[in-house]
Amino acid sequence: MTEANTQPEVNIGLVGHVDHGKTTLVQALSGSWTDQHSEEMKRGISIRLGYADATFRRCPGVDEPECYTVDEECEDGSASEPVRTVSFVDAPGHETLMATMLSGASIMDGAVLVVSATEDVPQAQTEEHLMALDLIGIENIVIAQNKVDLVDRDRAVDNHRQIQEFVEGTVAEDAPIVPVSAQQEVNLDLLIDAIESEIPTPDRDPGESARMYAARSFDINRPGATAEDLKGGVVGGSLVSGELSVGDGLEIRPGREVDEEGQTEWRPLETTVRSLQAGNNDVETAHPGGLLGVGTGLDPSLTKGDALAGQVAGEPGTLPPTREEFEMKVDLLDRVVGKEDDESGESDIEDISTGEPLMLTVGTATTVGAVTSARDGECEVSLKRPVCAEEGAQIAINRRVGARWRLIGVGTLA
Ligand code: GTP
Repeated sequence: MTEANTQPEVNIGLVGHVDHGKTTLVQALSGSWTDQHSEEMKRGISIRLGYADATFRRCPGVDEPECYTVDEECEDGSASEPVRTVSFVDAPGHETLMATMLSGASIMDGAVLVVSATEDVPQAQTEEHLMALDLIGIENIVIAQNKVDLVDRDRAVDNHRQIQEFVEGTVAEDAPIVPVSAQQEVNLDLLIDAIESEIPTPDRDPGESARMYAARSFDINRPGATAEDLKGGVVGGSLVSGELSVGDGLEIRPGREVDEEGQTEWRPLETTVRSLQAGNNDVETAHPGGLLGVGTGLDPSLTKGDALAGQVAGEPGTLPPTREEFEMKVDLLDRVVGKEDDESGESDIEDISTGEPLMLTVGTATTVGAVTSARDGECEVSLKRPVCAEEGAQIAINRRVGARWRLIGVGTLA
């Protein structure tokens, strides 16, 4: 990797219970907690997914894992060499933001599960987030046992054992558990070493057609901008395959809802890529990994206020169909996870029934669907907002339990 080429090449989710230290850890690894985008592109975003890029570096002549750092200068004063730039996708730990976490999961190549050593394991969202990784099939996982500066040795050992017991039989069973203090920056070299070996950059075929999941969209014009200053709409998200270059044609689905003579239908948008921003730089060509900002020729009113979040963009004519209804195979969990003891609602998961509303996350899209028919292991849903998705796509299924939506299983688009 050259210094000039610091476009992130892999997306790593940061998941775990609220206050266990995800944001602090990202800060320690990336030096800043911003989404590395221009102020303009950040405007209007509050609890959407956050991205932060970090360049892992190595001190020459030092053995692993001690060689790893994020500092440009090594302890002996020599210059460190860049190894890999990664993008951390910060999933909010707050329970009501599970849908955001799930939409982030579709663009994660691996994940760091942050677990605080100061609390018993598992806390509600530790369990719920791990279950989501398990269901969605994110297998490359590192566990950061955080806040070890706040506990004594016995407590740390006991907590480590609790984590091991908790992940037994899950996708994280063999994940390394690395004791760290994000705040005191202790053992970050060990954590980077574990990420380097457990979360490789996926093999990607640059010849595949470009496919981008939009997580955000913006109108970056200031109020009162004149017609000649007006900039086209911006779409932010991650490429999951292929490459995108300035000048390429771009189709976005489902697109926009058009009302004609009382009939509404969704029509794809077509435009061209006018500019690309990746890893905080303007680039001519973008690859998968990290947050990509795509400047388009679209009317900015179409991209305002995340209007295109959840949509799919790519080379015209190559995108999956837009679906207002679909059939899916369903795998339900045995019980609702991540529920506090004092919360209302059933813990057992009953079969899906006709007529019930479900909240479905497909790619980065979250939509509510009504079940129009349900059989053993299968159901059909009619969506409030359509999604662009292909056969075989994974769908996180949430049901209203008590006061909130709960993850109850995973569907596969038939
Ligand atoms: P949400 O984004 O709200 O889910 O929280 P979070 O998981 O990002 O937690 P955050 O990083 O905001 O940390 C929560 C609190 O724990 C903050 O006050 C941090 O300063 C503190 N904290 C995080 N890591 C450590 C650590 O390693 N040691 C100590 N002592 N405090 C820590």
